[in-house]
Amino acid sequence: MSEDARKAAALIEERAPGRKPTIGLVLGSGLGGLGDQVEDPVAFSFAELPGFPQPTVEGHAGRLILGTLSGVEVACLQGRVHLYEGHPATTVQPLIRTLKLLGCETLVLTNAAGALDLDAKPGQLMLLTDHINGQGTNPLLGKNDDSFGPRFPAMTGAYSPVLRERMKTVAAEQGVTLREGVYMALLGPTFETPAEIRMCQAMGANAVGMSTVPEVIVARHCGMQCAAVSVLTNMGAGLADEELSHDQTLEFAQKASASLQELIKGFIGTFA
Ligand code: HPA
Repeated sequence: MSEDARKAAALIEERAPGRKPTIGLVLGSGLGGLGDQVEDPVAFSFAELPGFPQPTVEGHAGRLILGTLSGVEVACLQGRVHLYEGHPATTVQPLIRTLKLLGCETLVLTNAAGALDLDAKPGQLMLLTDHINGQGTNPLLGKNDDSFGPRFPAMTGAYSPVLRERMKTVAAEQGVTLREGVYMALLGPTFETPAEIRMCQAMGANAVGMSTVPEVIVARHCGMQCAAVSVLTNMGAGLADEELSHDQTLEFAQKASASLQELIKGFIGTFA
């Protein structure tokens, strides 16, 4: 696993010499458009990179793109893997560790999620303050690679308070409503039952989705600072009179993508 990350990073450094990304980006369902705005891009398909899986979901391209965004060198994972595709959770290790080995100290993640707060509106953005891993698995299962991080990594401050303040400042400057809250990751691929949505609410979550938590765990393990924003594409099952579907997720992710992209670009620009 960690050998894959070393091989992938070496291959990328050989084929894209001189690139020194400092920010990694993981783009969620219907939110990959930011990857297309990377300037002076060098792209690698996941198929070329050792240990990188092929994503299977519509709306996920599966490319690692190096280039510049808002004047900052970035490495962007366009298309992520989800555990519901059948990959073991450890599959996420090489993706995130490759970004780390390329020089990324910060990881910015986006996702689509269902809202659990009754005053939320589909299309709004939510900054993650914390997460609940409800996936029943962990990407660090198995032998620990001490060269990346400790066997028992702390998860306090997983979503960097410093980066959160920065994101909130940028949102305020842009006049974008940015909710805040706890993201609960479930395995999927089913959307939740209304009873499960009530469970998530009772556990203290403000949004529910099927991603992000594995990547953040691997990133925190190797000492990266994380910031994550959800697009609330729908109300959680049973909270509104609507049938949930992936089409709806993509539609609302698309609608919110302009403001999310501006927010992320503005945030990245603060590192220039
Ligand atoms: N549940 C889980 N994942 C999601 C949802 C949801 O309601 N909306 C978008 N991703």
